[in-house]
Amino acid sequence: YMYQRHLSIIPDGPIVWGTMLPEIDSALQVLSEILQQLTNQKSSIEGDIHTTFDELQKTLNVRKSVLLMELEVNYGLKQKVLQAQLDTLFQGQDGINSSCNFTEQALSHGTEAEVLLVKKQMSERLSELASRELPLQPGENDQLDFMVETEGLKKSIHNLGTIVTTNAVASETVATGEGLRQCVAGLPTSVTITTKDKDGELCKMGKANITAEIATPDGSVGDGEILDNKNGTYEYLYTAPKEGSLTLSLRLYDQHIKGSPFKIKATKSADVSPSTESAKKRLKSPGSSHVKQKAIKRPASMYSTGKRKENPIEDDLIFRIGTKGRNKGEFTNLQGVAASSVGKVLIADSNNQCVQIFSNDGLFKSRFGVRGRSPGQLQRPTGVAVHPNGDIIIADYDNKWVSIFSSDGKFKNKIGSGKLMGPKGVSVDRNGHVIIVDNKACCVFIFQPNGKLVTKFGNRGNGDRQFAGPHFAAVNHNNEIIVTDFHNHSVKVFNPEGEFLLKFGSNGEGNGQFNAPTGVAVDVNGNIIVADWGNSRIQVFDGSGSFLSYINTSADPLYGPQGLALTSDGHVVVADSGNHCFKVYRYLQ
Ligand SMILES: *[C@@H]1O[C@H](CO)[C@@H](O)[C@H](O)[C@H]1NC(C)=O
Ligand SMILES: *[C@@H]1O[C@H](CO)[C@@H](O)[C@H](O)[C@H]1NC(C)=O
Ligand SMILES: *[C@@H]1O[C@H](CO)[C@@H](O)[C@H](O)[C@H]1NC(C)=O
Ligand SMILES: *[C@@H]1O[C@H](CO)[C@@H](O)[C@H](O)[C@H]1NC(C)=O
Ligand SMILES: *[C@@H]1O[C@H](CO)[C@@H](O)[C@H](O)[C@H]1NC(C)=O
Ligand SMILES: *[C@@H]1O[C@H](CO)[C@@H](O)[C@H](O)[C@H]1NC(C)=O
Repeated sequence: YMYQRHLSIIPDGPIVWGTMLPEIDSALQVLSEILQQLTNQKSSIEGDIHTTFDELQKTLNVRKSVLLMELEVNYGLKQKVLQAQLDTLFQGQDGINSSCNFTEQALSHGTEAEVLLVKKQMSERLSELASRELPLQPGENDQLDFMVETEGLKKSIHNLGTIVTTNAVASETVATGEGLRQCVAGLPTSVTITTKDKDGELCKMGKANITAEIATPDGSVGDGEILDNKNGTYEYLYTAPKEGSLTLSLRLYDQHIKGSPFKIKATKSADVSPSTESAKKRLKSPGSSHVKQKAIKRPASMYSTGKRKENPIEDDLIFRIGTKGRNKGEFTNLQGVAASSVGKVLIADSNNQCVQIFSNDGLFKSRFGVRGRSPGQLQRPTGVAVHPNGDIIIADYDNKWVSIFSSDGKFKNKIGSGKLMGPKGVSVDRNGHVIIVDNKACCVFIFQPNGKLVTKFGNRGNGDRQFAGPHFAAVNHNNEIIVTDFHNHSVKVFNPEGEFLLKFGSNGEGNGQFNAPTGVAVDVNGNIIVADWGNSRIQVFDGSGSFLSYINTSADPLYGPQGLALTSDGHVVVADSGNHCFKVYRYLQ
């Protein structure tokens, strides 16, 4: 019995070897997964290349037909005019010829009596001919030219598309910087990642797939971003949510790089206020304080459907919409929010790569941008705004441009391509110009909707006219631009020329303080409403930056709110990102 049982758990050789050498076993598994993935990727890209060029070919053929048709139509119109004129002139000439002939005949062969007889007839005929106006001036011209500039296009086609790849491997890739060991909570810290190939040589190309994950023991996550230096090195910028020990996992193509995960000690902020009580409470990750202190136990199913839920508990919430998911009315990491004057709410659903549109009272209307090969394909929509003409303006963080769609979701054009590094928020000013907050470049761009740059201002830093991490912008009735500075924990106001006017806010949990402000909106009275991401709350200020009040969100706490807007019926709509829903609140009531 024992013997048989033994046999049955060791069925064959390779598994015995596998259990003896688990490293080889798992290496084999990883390698075959990579190979499989590589092969899949190749055939998928083959398909993409075929489709891309087939579509280009189709576009070219369509254009060719259109031009040939236009040529035909233009020729036809001109030809008709000229031919008609020609016919009229021939007719006229014929009439005159035959009259002349008739007269000639009469004069040369007729008797005097006959001449007298035809005289009356002749004069009538001649006066009739004289009164007939013949079109002697050309009624058309012969211009028909073909103008085409193909050099630029040929050049573009010549360089169209690239195969993106590197030889970087995780086992040789290293990270350096003080930020791997320690950092100050609430302050941005940087780490440099250098990608290397299997021989330990620096990879000189960017675009490697690197992911970073920072976590505290209690499971809250920090905010960070990876900047590609395009030379094989990358900067990882992160902000520790609070003091304590953190774990930073840096992965290249899904595998830990050398030394990862790293243990980091986050110390208290240096500019901490003397009160130890407030020092202990500050710099929480999104919602950690509010959720823990104020969350009220309620049935798990209460908010779990995609449908509108009225607030059963009396705070300022009117209703909330959405859960995590990929379907209509569901969200995955929603970011920017806009409201139109015609009663619509628009949500940039960044990880679902679409914008969803709802009525003011929360009914799903439509969505667009969802996967496809249309020229308006969205990669990571983070900001959304509605132009007074009805167009929908979308900041696309990963595509590094801003797309404009008609109100019914048809792609019109893109602006800022080649200029923007990481557009996060968008807004429209009183002149109909598009205000773009470039989070990566730490810069605000102002464009005409046709893509012509009007002006730009700001760069990375903590100065008045600088940004440490700008996220969203709003425009007030004086056409002044209000920008949230996430890493400087402040809100900055500029005139339309980009000159600094005022700033308010500092890091903390008190009234008028912020822990990483994100969404911002201005109401008709010039009051400024700010989403306070790390404190998971919404604050209301007057136009000079004086704190007025909070929106009461205590019954159903926010978790890392992002974009924020005012609906046409005067409510505040906010992207409650961490809860994967949007919420509509009353305020100042
Ligand atoms: C009219 O007469 C002129 C000269 O006699 C000649 O060249 C022309 O072809 C004639 N036209 C017609 C329509 O008969
Ligand atoms: C005039 O008409 C006659 C007969 O109709 C014809 O034979 C002759 O060629 C014509 N002459 C001219 C100049 O058209
Ligand atoms: C990077 O790799 C991860 C895990 O393999 C994958 O989920 C993600 O889509 C990749 N990102 C890009 C931009 O390719
Ligand atoms: C890569 O680019 C960054 C930023 O431009 C620069 O600071 C760094 O020195 C470069 N590194 C190498 C190895 O070229
Ligand atoms: C917020 O609303 C809750 C629920 O109605 C209430 O108990 C609480 O007192 C309110 N907080 C403030 C500051 O008004
Ligand atoms: C924000 O900027 C101000 C200067 O405008 C600076 O004094 C302050 O230290 C900055 N705050 C943080 C948290 O970086």
